[in-house]
Amino acid sequence: MEDPREDRPVDLVAALARARSPEPPGPDIPAGGAARAWPGPPRPLPPAGPADLDLEALLRYSLAAADASGRLRPVSSAGALHPVDTELVVGAGCSLPPGRYGYDPLRHRVHPVGPQLEGTPPGVTAELSVTARRTASHYGHRAWPLLLLDTGHAAAALFLAARALGTDEPEVRLDGLAESPLAAVHIPPPGGRGPAHPDGCARVPDLPGGPPTLAELLARRSTPPPMPGAPSQDALRAVLTTAERAGTRDLRWCAAVGPPRPALVALSADGTTLRRHAAGEARPTLAAWAAGQAWIADAGAVLLAHGCPADADAPHIRRAHLRAGFAVHLAHVTALRHGLAARPVGSWQQADLGAALGAAQDRDWVVHGLALGTRHADEENTT
Ligand SMILES: Cc1cc2nc3c(=O)[nH]c(=O)nc-3n(C[C@H](O)[C@H](O)[C@H](O)COP(=O)(O)O)c2cc1C
Repeated sequence: MEDPREDRPVDLVAALARARSPEPPGPDIPAGGAARAWPGPPRPLPPAGPADLDLEALLRYSLAAADASGRLRPVSSAGALHPVDTELVVGAGCSLPPGRYGYDPLRHRVHPVGPQLEGTPPGVTAELSVTARRTASHYGHRAWPLLLLDTGHAAAALFLAARALGTDEPEVRLDGLAESPLAAVHIPPPGGRGPAHPDGCARVPDLPGGPPTLAELLARRSTPPPMPGAPSQDALRAVLTTAERAGTRDLRWCAAVGPPRPALVALSADGTTLRRHAAGEARPTLAAWAAGQAWIADAGAVLLAHGCPADADAPHIRRAHLRAGFAVHLAHVTALRHGLAARPVGSWQQADLGAALGAAQDRDWVVHGLALGTRHADEENTT
């Protein structure tokens, strides 16, 4: 992994400790190009034959930019800086000839960067890495947790697009150890099976209510704050269920809700109801912890992924953040499906949730969040 500003390895344990400290980031630096400059001439993504995995559609509904600046994409990103780079390892049964390709999400084109290697499975494996400087240009030393969360969101966007296109078994790898890629999503060709869940590839259940539609994926946006209005118990349960199913390993989930009974709520053991995790109003504290974003104190609810203790080693930190990003992305789409307003919240300082609830210090930190509401800002302004 590279240092946010320089091309040298980063110590994730030290990077997370510093990102969680109250130290403010320095002034912005230039972000560099909005997409990685792959070598060689770009190629369009050809139309798929009837038996092929349609890579053009897969990428259009997951990672492609819909505007020249690159802000509008099916996948969200901290600060809309989109640091995730994608290499496609293409095997048999795809709409591109086998080989390795770099994907340019701004032009929706691919660059051939290498031949097919022996043993490449049928279908495509999207390998995700980051250009850390893009996120560090604004967030400085707070970049690394966000880079991992963003990578998890991108893996989720690929997973959802594959499901929306009818792939039965996309496989998601979020606990590899190699410096690059940070994460990978394997999508088998139509009718083909993946490599039978190799070690580290998790089967991910669908969203409650079934796979997303393609229209849902293109419509996903982060609602601009403010987002007041408490979600119904049903909607909150669906959001928590989605997050728990997609991201249980290393993480726990709860949601801060406001009056009339302010509390942190979590799913009951059988997943059918909400139970009180702790009583009391947490949202103003969450606003302070989330880089002082005051609007969070008035959000209808805030979904929280927590865990990742201060003594977590680098593989644990990496896994927990990738998984949190993945799960929050799925929870975001579930929230929108329930008519909620929703916005990820990824930058957390001094957010020792366990200590704040009277338990041991440094054991249970906020890793990621999703602010939720029922009324959207434009409705709010007209009332
Ligand atoms: C990992 C992550 C962290 C984020 N953190 C925040 C945040 O702290 N505050 C905020 O207002 N938006 C946050 N966002 C939302 C982004 O600003 C938003 O995704 C981006 O502007 C692109 O807009 P879109 O999601 O509507 O496509 C975050 C998004 C991601 C993926």
